[in-house]
Amino acid sequence: MQNVIGIDAGGTLTKLAYINEQNEMDFEIFPSNDFSKVKNWLENHPHIEEIGLTGGRTKQLLNVLKTMKSIQYLVEFEATFKGVKYLLNKNGYDIENAIISNIGTGTSIHYMEGYSHIRVGGTGIGGGTLTGLSTIMTGVSDFNEITSNAALGSRENIDLFVKDIFQGMEPPIEGHLTASNFGNVSILKDTKYETNDLLATIQGLVGEVITTLSIQFAEEKKANEIIYIGSTLTNNDHLKEVISNYTILKKHKPVFLDDCGFTGAIGALLNKVEQSHITQP
Ligand SMILES: Nc1ncnc2c1ncn2[C@@H]1O[C@H](COP(=O)(O)OP(=O)(O)OP(=O)(O)O)[C@@H](O)[C@H]1O
Ligand SMILES: [Mg+2]
Repeated sequence: MQNVIGIDAGGTLTKLAYINEQNEMDFEIFPSNDFSKVKNWLENHPHIEEIGLTGGRTKQLLNVLKTMKSIQYLVEFEATFKGVKYLLNKNGYDIENAIISNIGTGTSIHYMEGYSHIRVGGTGIGGGTLTGLSTIMTGVSDFNEITSNAALGSRENIDLFVKDIFQGMEPPIEGHLTASNFGNVSILKDTKYETNDLLATIQGLVGEVITTLSIQFAEEKKANEIIYIGSTLTNNDHLKEVISNYTILKKHKPVFLDDCGFTGAIGALLNKVEQSHITQP
């Protein structure tokens, strides 16, 4: 199995999953706007002979790789589902039906039941929105800088909470719920906005839109758990907290998996291994 690799060429990031010399699954990430880095990596690992591929930029990657290696393509949703099943199993989860929200560049939402799955919807609000809005509004474009600074920020003066509207009254819904993301800006005029506060508020917007939609599908499908995956959650405890708090408030169970950015690459790897076993005597 060490001669096989799974590659997920996503909208923003290309993820690699492979088995290292210690016989453990290992991962690499490259930006999808520079496939020569993936090509170099493969050239530096000549023992890899078989590639499982998935992701929307598969064709663009193949145009750069021009490889003679044995390739097996798997559609993205299948690869992601295979990867999710693998990670659930590895982490000891026994979940029969759940919503899977894949927060990639955009967000794709799926319903899984046993070994079957369907796409139920999605939104253009995702990791690309987080980095895009952060760049335009604060000048901070580095993902790790965005997430670590967001964790230090406060949403208080930028978001409008239910309690801000119902001052001195008993609100009809929980007071700390967001009434309007960024809604305080037009009310508290001429306030100076700190970078960290803006970043925290952008994460709030992205996380709450995704959670709201995921909860609606969970209720429609009568699923208790919502499994949130995608590289947008990598080292992003602040976003996980936004998502987790809101999901729990709405009486559903959020599930976060380690290595959740690599589900597509893991699925492509596992699929290639299975195919090789079928085709090779
Ligand atoms: N090192 C990084 N560089 C840039 N973005 C990162 C990085 N790590 C995490 N991210 C975040 O992850 C997001 C991409 O997530 P992911 O890799 O799951 O999507 P994708 O597969 O590229 O896109 P899609 O599935 O929508 O085609 C980025 O938009 C960004 O918010
Ligand atoms: Mg993806």
